[in-house]
Amino acid sequence: MPTRPPLLDSLGRAHTNLRMSVTDRCNIRCFYCMPEENVEFKPREEILTFEELVRFARICSALGVNKIRVTGGEPLVRRNLPELITALVKIQGIDEIALTTNGILLSEQAEALRQAGLKRLNISLDTLDDDTFFRLSRRRGIERVLEGIATAQRVGFEQIRLNAIAIRGLTEEDIVPLAEFAMQQSLELRFIEFMPLDAEGNWGNSAVLTGATIKETLEEHFGKLIAADRPDASQPAVDFKFTSGKGRIGFINPVSEPFCSTCNRLRITAEGKVRNCLFSTSEWDAQQLLRNGGSDEEIEMLIRDCVLAKKAAHGIDTPEFEKPERAMYQIGG
Ligand code: 5AD
Ligand code: SF4
Repeated sequence: MPTRPPLLDSLGRAHTNLRMSVTDRCNIRCFYCMPEENVEFKPREEILTFEELVRFARICSALGVNKIRVTGGEPLVRRNLPELITALVKIQGIDEIALTTNGILLSEQAEALRQAGLKRLNISLDTLDDDTFFRLSRRRGIERVLEGIATAQRVGFEQIRLNAIAIRGLTEEDIVPLAEFAMQQSLELRFIEFMPLDAEGNWGNSAVLTGATIKETLEEHFGKLIAADRPDASQPAVDFKFTSGKGRIGFINPVSEPFCSTCNRLRITAEGKVRNCLFSTSEWDAQQLLRNGGSDEEIEMLIRDCVLAKKAAHGIDTPEFEKPERAMYQIGG
């Protein structure tokens, strides 16, 4: 419940959305996020405990945060995750809790997560093809992801969204089948542009399949997409419906159409570093305060300092752009 002044940055953006990474570990190795081998994970004792995460979330909720997204690495590899959800649901002022997962462990965990009070899921699905899945994630497992989606639908999640990263030269052939799948299943599908957050320096502008290009491909196949209302003006996606009715398509275009001016997100990494942007090159260490007797007020000050230092924009399109040291799995998507 907000009891303190809102988390405004120097441009007046109010931060109401917390992305909380619960682990840097993952059971697959997507090339746009992780190295293929020899991944350097944080030692377990560095990772925040559920108590620490819940305390941090409670402090944020007093500052006006009302949405939390649990991310990773892959959050479902963290043991007993439903217990964290149960505790987060109880925080007053948090209206919405969502989880982003690769779906591999979802069929085993969907029911427990739903019972813990989770209502929203984002499931990553870049392709329906076994070989393309292997090329992207360097592991096998598309059937498990599809089973995970089916289980999530069966146990009654209110909102399930599919997230697809589109990569030029790799996933063009997947666009139409993914849209057909979303239509058949009455699910929302979002295409996300590839951002420079991979671990092996594979990103280049030429690998970005832009939202505009994907939209053209979809319209050639399905006819004109109809602009849909945006329930939340700060959401980065631009949404469309098909003329035929069922299913919904969104585009998140951080590279070709940056949405930094309406960004309301704050992030905490699995080991408790607070970040004001995916592309931050500085971080604020909340772990040290959480573990060494820091007061709620001190943690609040740290969060405010972090938010105040937020830049106007990520600047991927500028010559001064500096790729952050962390790759996506070390930040949280
Ligand atoms: N660019 C865009 N999205 C990414 N994700 C991971 N790495 C990248 C990247 N380099 C996405 C995943 C998932 C979420 C956790 O972040 O596909 O949807
Ligand atoms: Fe794992 Fe998600 Fe990163 Fe893929 S994008 S390697 S599923 S954390």
